[in-house]
Amino acid sequence: MMEPRPISQRESHISSGEKFRVAVLISGGGTNLQALLDAATVGSIAAEVCLVISSNPEAVGLERAKRAGVPTAVFRSKDFPDLPSFRRALLESLRDSGARLLVLAGYMKKLPREVLRAYPDAIINIHPALLPRFGGKGYFGRRVHAAVLAAGERVSGATVHLVTEGYDEGPNLLQEQIPVRSDDTVESLAARVLAVEHRLLPAAVQAFADGRVRSQGGRVWVEPA
Ligand code: GRF
Repeated sequence: MMEPRPISQRESHISSGEKFRVAVLISGGGTNLQALLDAATVGSIAAEVCLVISSNPEAVGLERAKRAGVPTAVFRSKDFPDLPSFRRALLESLRDSGARLLVLAGYMKKLPREVLRAYPDAIINIHPALLPRFGGKGYFGRRVHAAVLAAGERVSGATVHLVTEGYDEGPNLLQEQIPVRSDDTVESLAARVLAVEHRLLPAAVQAFADGRVRSQGGRVWVEPA
C-alpha cells in the first residue's frame, strides 16, 4: 500500500526558517482573515498571510490587511477587458505572492478553473454549517443559519473543506459542532458559529503548514497535531 502523502509538502521548496505563505480571499468583513492575522502575529500558527485578495473594493477586510501590513489586491472581472485576462491576472497575482495555500474566507465568487488547477488540494474554504448539510448554491450568510433553525437542527457548527469546482462540495477537513439553543435567533447562532470559525480556520492552516493534511485513494484527512 502506498504511504499517504502530505498534501502541502508536495513541492517543498521553502527554505528553512521561511514561513508557510498563505493568500486569503475575501469579499466582506474579514473577521476570519483577522483571526489568521492575529494567530500569525502571536505565533500560534507558523504561517504568514502574504496577500489578501478581495472581490469587493469596499470590503472591510482590506483595511484589516493594510493595518497588518499585508499586500492587498482587488480583482473584479468587470475591471478587465475580458474573462481570460481577468483570470490570468488573478492567477499571476497569486503566483507572485508565493502562496502555497489559498484560503477562501467569505469569498463570494467562484474561483476560475485556472486557479483551481494551479493549486490542487491547496485551496480551502470555511463554511458556517456542518457540511454536507446546509451548503451549496444559495447557502451563504444569514440564509445558512435561518435554514438550520427552520429545519429544527439540534447542532450546527463550522466546516473547513477543500475547494473543488462545485460550491461547498470538496472533502471536509475539519469540523466543529455547537448545540443549537431553543432560543437561538439567526443572529445569536451566527455569532456563536463565527466564534468557532475563528478557531477552526487557523487550526486548518496550521495543519497544512505542518504537512498534516493527507490524501490517499481519493480520501483526505487531517492527522492530529
Ligand atoms: C463566514 O461565516 C464564513 O463561514 C463564510 O463567510 C463568512 C465570512 O465572514 N464563508 P468574515 O468576512 O470572515 O467575517
